[in-house]
Amino acid sequence: MSENEWVSVADKGSVPEGEMKGVTVGSTEVAIYNLKGELYATDNLCTHAYAFLTDGWMDGEEVECPLHAGRFEIKTGKGMGAPIPCDVKSFPVRIEGDKIQVKVG
Ligand code: FES
Repeated sequence: MSENEWVSVADKGSVPEGEMKGVTVGSTEVAIYNLKGELYATDNLCTHAYAFLTDGWMDGEEVECPLHAGRFEIKTGKGMGAPIPCDVKSFPVRIEGDKIQVKVG
């Protein structure tokens, strides 16, 4: 599997509005979010220490890390300040047929 290609990661209906889901693409942990019916994807690992954002909480257009409450913008991956040292990557995501696909390359 190439990480530069669109990869099917989940069934279309498996991330309901207001929820998120963690998937793995190759060696990359990816968080898929459904924000008001639109899908977004970012790196799932917090940039501060070791925690999965999908174990945290969605709050409006931000996701809060479960470990030290760092926050990122879901749409862009932008880190919203301390304790987060940098942004998480965001990835293109789309629906293709009955699958959710992401491209992490
Ligand atoms: S590990 Fe996410 S804020 Fe510390």
